[in-house]
Amino acid sequence: MTMSGNSFGIYVHWPFCLSKCPYCDFNSHVRHATIDEARFLRAFTTELATTAARAPGRTVSTIFFGGGTPSLMQPATVGAILDAIAGHWTIAPDIEVTLEANPTSVEATRFRGYRAAGVNRVSLGVQALDDVALKELGRMHSTQEALAAVAVARDNFERFSFDLIYARPGQTLAAWAAELKAAIAQAGEHLSLYQLTIEQETPFAALHAAGKLITPDDDSARALYDTTQEVCAAAGLPAYEISNHARPGAECRHNLVYWRGHEYAGVGPGAHGRLDVDGTRYATATEKRPEAWLMRVETNGHGVVTDEALSSEQMADEFLLMGLRLAEGIDPARYTRLAGRPLNPRRIAVLHEEGAVETTPSGRLRVTLSGFPVLDAVVADLAA
Ligand SMILES: C[S@@+](CC[C@H](N)C(=O)[O-])C[C@H]1O[C@@H](n2cnc3c(N)ncnc32)[C@H](O)[C@@H]1O
Ligand code: SF4
Repeated sequence: MTMSGNSFGIYVHWPFCLSKCPYCDFNSHVRHATIDEARFLRAFTTELATTAARAPGRTVSTIFFGGGTPSLMQPATVGAILDAIAGHWTIAPDIEVTLEANPTSVEATRFRGYRAAGVNRVSLGVQALDDVALKELGRMHSTQEALAAVAVARDNFERFSFDLIYARPGQTLAAWAAELKAAIAQAGEHLSLYQLTIEQETPFAALHAAGKLITPDDDSARALYDTTQEVCAAAGLPAYEISNHARPGAECRHNLVYWRGHEYAGVGPGAHGRLDVDGTRYATATEKRPEAWLMRVETNGHGVVTDEALSSEQMADEFLLMGLRLAEGIDPARYTRLAGRPLNPRRIAVLHEEGAVETTPSGRLRVTLSGFPVLDAVVADLAA
């Protein structure tokens, strides 16, 4: 039993940034020499062909260019990757093609080109609408520049989203509520709102350990989270996932592919995929270092370094971990099919009593608003 559904997504990773933000542990690299984009394009094309040979006949419903900073790519490169995808698979008529962009003025000048290349949605890393905070986050743009990029996105794309990071050092509830309202006034149909996470081995982790960067304690973080939910829901942008808000129907369909446990291919350095081949689900991951990935693709036709057949237990755990992030929750019957056994009713009963989960009238199991801040513990409990 695999987890395949009708949706098939393709994730394309562009691993370069102009500078490294001190909080970020994504697979992003800064290079002082010029990047040989033509060589990367050839490698992307090769890896797509190898992936298509392994997973042929799919209809692609979503494509996501993530990073790193994909808005550093030339529109022609993005267009050529989209052409390569269309050469291997059927493209759904209503395909969603998202590109992550940094909101600088230089990048905004490329938006029209991305639109012409076939991108129909952008996700902008605004991060804050506060110049002091943007500096502290090591960002290269100002609030004004970010808002100008949002305006260009609005002019070129019917669908756009932007990201903000909250629970930043010293951020008060009142300041965040005001910033969020200002953001909503500029937002379209979708916002991603992430609590600042101190990731290991980043400059922020060192500052945090040295007591020089103090993040809100659990109670303050909880209050910030609750305010986020209230302000967004009141503005018609309820959370459909723990950190993602959208007008109903405007959810990011690519991310739903992950959270609903559907099939997706990952190409580019450090990209992950879940492919269903001959009734077995494989978890794939490619070499993370860009130049090493290039050499592997040029030698072997792909950069895959991890290719693991998932057991039914692993598939069931992953289904819980991803599905319970969603406001719609999970279908317990699908868990039973994957795991070969149902969820433990006693554990569900205890979580029900604690108010951490609820069962919808249609029988879906979902995490409640008060359960979301302790989601990891809820998932661990159910999966045990
Ligand atoms: C791959 S990154 C962003 C893409 C783009 N390069 C940018 O920075 O605008 C995706 C998003 O993850 C969020 N993010 C990254 N590191 C984070 C952290 N340590 N805590 C919270 N959010 C984080 C940021 O909001 C960021 O926009
Ligand atoms: S947050 Fe974005 S721009 Fe900053 S290093 Fe990470 S991927 Fe690059």
